[in-house]
Amino acid sequence: MTAPVISPSKLKPNDPCWCGSGNKFKRCHRSAMERVIAGAITPMRPVPPDIERPHYAEHGGTDDRDEPMVKPPETIERMRRTGQAAAEILRKVGDAIAPGVTTDDLDALCHRLCIEAGGYPSPLNYGIDPPFPKSICTSVNEVICHGIPDSRALRDGDIVNLDVTLFREGVHGDTNATWAVGTTDPESLRLIRVTRECTQLGIESVKPGRPVSDIGRAIQDHAEEAGFSVVRAFVGHGVGTEFHTRPEILHYFHPRSSEIMTPGMTFTIEPMISVGAWQQRLWDDGWTASTVDGKRTAQFEHTMVVTDDGVEVLTLHPDGIWSGDGNAPST
Ligand code: MF3
Ligand code: CO
Ligand code: CO
Repeated sequence: MTAPVISPSKLKPNDPCWCGSGNKFKRCHRSAMERVIAGAITPMRPVPPDIERPHYAEHGGTDDRDEPMVKPPETIERMRRTGQAAAEILRKVGDAIAPGVTTDDLDALCHRLCIEAGGYPSPLNYGIDPPFPKSICTSVNEVICHGIPDSRALRDGDIVNLDVTLFREGVHGDTNATWAVGTTDPESLRLIRVTRECTQLGIESVKPGRPVSDIGRAIQDHAEEAGFSVVRAFVGHGVGTEFHTRPEILHYFHPRSSEIMTPGMTFTIEPMISVGAWQQRLWDDGWTASTVDGKRTAQFEHTMVVTDDGVEVLTLHPDGIWSGDGNAPST
């Protein structure tokens, strides 16, 4: 028999905590259930001059949407190396997650690891109004994506997504994963597991000759079957010498996703799955997106290439194991 799953959002301050400590909720895991608020952002970290930079590194900017979707084998070869290096960085930054560690600490680590790998941290100065000021996205609890690393320390019971993109050999490798910090409530753990499965199912539906809407259908079916919702506002994207290009990969079914998958096409799949509402709000910083209802959301991302008979994931760690949590048996 399994214990009933207690939704932390339904607990009163004096109820016993869901974690089984016997302590009152208010003295135990309640602080991890409060809404995330912005902390202080440190100055932009410098990148040594000998590191090759993307075009936006100096003045900000977005992408050339006309980059061809199908890449030559030589570009795929470079994306394979950059993608693997990005996966190794994601793993190492994830290993540093612990209660008390600030998201800015994780930024400093990611920044250093990208440079040590001979690459540029793609988020740094990407975009306009304003450009993104940091080298990794750190999205905690109800933050959907594009969280800016700051002075907030991770708390026992949080969940956090780390999104690493590395630019090296003229191409980007884009990958992310979600972790539980310390002891986290059962509903959040189930969210992480289901989201991971959504990304896996999306990848398994990549087949040459099929429309990209197959990907969104697989993801939406699995998320909604589990009682969760699919964030609409952020999509997977073509990636290569540019960070975000065509095709657009919706994570829910829509007939407008009629682009046909073709061998050599490179893109990401990166579903954001929410416990409650799928609608988002943008913080005043112009980047951080959170759920409207404050309920939690998780994400897993890989960069891949369509092959003659399926798909090759370009951001796999050399050991083949995905970073992040959600591998535990079903609860
Ligand atoms: N890596 C994110 C993605 O998956 C994009 C981050 S853009 C940034 O597409 F500017 F916020 F870093
Ligand atoms: Co991406
Ligand atoms: Co990403």
